[in-house]
Amino acid sequence: MSKLFITKPMSVLMAESSSDHGLRKTLSAFNLTTLGIGAVIGAGIFVLTGQAAAQYAGPAIVISFLISGFACLFAGLCYAEFASMIPIAGSAYTYAYATMGEFVAWIIGWDLILEYLFAASTVAVGWSGYVVSFLKDFGIVIPAQLTAAWGSVLVDIPQIGWKLATPELAKSLAESGTAIASLPHLTGVLNLPAMFVVAAITILLLIGIRESARFNNVMVVIKVFVILLFIGIGFMFVNKANWHPFIPKNTGVWGHYGWSGIFRGAAVIFFAYIGFDAVSTAAQEAKNPKRDMPIGILGSLGISTLLYILVAIVLTGIVSYSFLNVADPIAVGVNAMGEGLFWLRPIIKIAAIAGLSSVILVMLMGQPRIFFSMSKDGLLPPVFSKIHSRFKTPYVSTLITGFVALVLAGILPINILGELVSIGTLLAFAMVCIGIIVLRVKRPDLERTFKTPFVPLVPILGAGICILQMLSLPWETWARLIIWMAIGFVIYFTYGIRKSKLRNK
Ligand code: ALA
Repeated sequence: MSKLFITKPMSVLMAESSSDHGLRKTLSAFNLTTLGIGAVIGAGIFVLTGQAAAQYAGPAIVISFLISGFACLFAGLCYAEFASMIPIAGSAYTYAYATMGEFVAWIIGWDLILEYLFAASTVAVGWSGYVVSFLKDFGIVIPAQLTAAWGSVLVDIPQIGWKLATPELAKSLAESGTAIASLPHLTGVLNLPAMFVVAAITILLLIGIRESARFNNVMVVIKVFVILLFIGIGFMFVNKANWHPFIPKNTGVWGHYGWSGIFRGAAVIFFAYIGFDAVSTAAQEAKNPKRDMPIGILGSLGISTLLYILVAIVLTGIVSYSFLNVADPIAVGVNAMGEGLFWLRPIIKIAAIAGLSSVILVMLMGQPRIFFSMSKDGLLPPVFSKIHSRFKTPYVSTLITGFVALVLAGILPINILGELVSIGTLLAFAMVCIGIIVLRVKRPDLERTFKTPFVPLVPILGAGICILQMLSLPWETWARLIIWMAIGFVIYFTYGIRKSKLRNK
């Protein structure tokens, strides 16, 4: 028990980072930045922005993006310092092992599964929605029960098609005079397209890091190009009247417009920023990690933030925020530009599909690399760090990750998955921020190629905002987090504690 908080010495970490671990060192600063953008820009901007603007913040969703962006910037600065100092695959897990001890490291490692593996499943469900709608435009219809979570109820809305029967949908139908119970119903069986994309990307990841990075680069170019196209063309269609009032008056309910709505919106669109830290999981495959890790983390965060703010400004300028509570708000924006621009609609869908594919790819790439580090430390069985002799990828952990993500994507609805991802990520970010302060006190002597500015202010603000955002999530999500952590404790105290290489030295 006394060794619960044993820390991994920096000398050991350094030796591990320079030893031959079997992974290929091929990623440049450019690759790392595109990897970050690949993981960040996805369901958040293509799906959630419109919903958050319509329900909570109005045009002031731009301010929500700024608030959430700042919280991520603070966490990103802390990540960058760690990544420049400890260039080892494993992300926040490894940083915690060096600063706060094995038990905390295990907690973070276990928690990161919520961020990476669960995010892959969440985004796969979003991908499925876009693909189903894209195929439908070409007359290809996949039976609705094979595109929804197991046991979920779907209703057939005239002219729109099958939609998940949520309380919000029931309310808006009731407002337009239709009782949801009067519409045809179906029960979901499996989300097959979501399972398909997870399987396909897992196969790509098994083949190689270089191939995966190349695929990611192509997807990133497509999505960024189309987002720029939307911003550029959209600016010409802005009707300034749509920005008034910029902060709609609060309805009397916390979180429904006004400043409380801006904060609620910030918590919702936090999901859009998740992923820049995935860069840190590829440290062992980077050519020059000490220099390039901070570039990849902060570069991808900066570019994504700028694009998000511009999209939010343009979108709420083209169309009244009240029309944006849909699964494809950007497409609604294009519709509002008039018939002359209808050609842009399928292009937006293709960009969304490409964007979501790259998010799934980077998340499914990050997770096995965290397992790899945990297994190398003895906290997970050795099979998790097996490297394929020809492809040089951690193939067993990639397969396990892919399989679990596939099952979750097939059977769980997007809101349960998404909120778990947010709470798990916020916890990891808060821990990383605290870790920076701990290491500055414990090891001020270490070489830091990148230093977080204004320590301890920046880490304290970073951790503080993350914890506040966690508190704004529903109690059910907290309960799921606690159950998840309890499972992690059982595994640690029955396996990790006995097998830890550091303890048994
Ligand atoms: N940030 C990622 C997305 O929005 C997870 O899809």
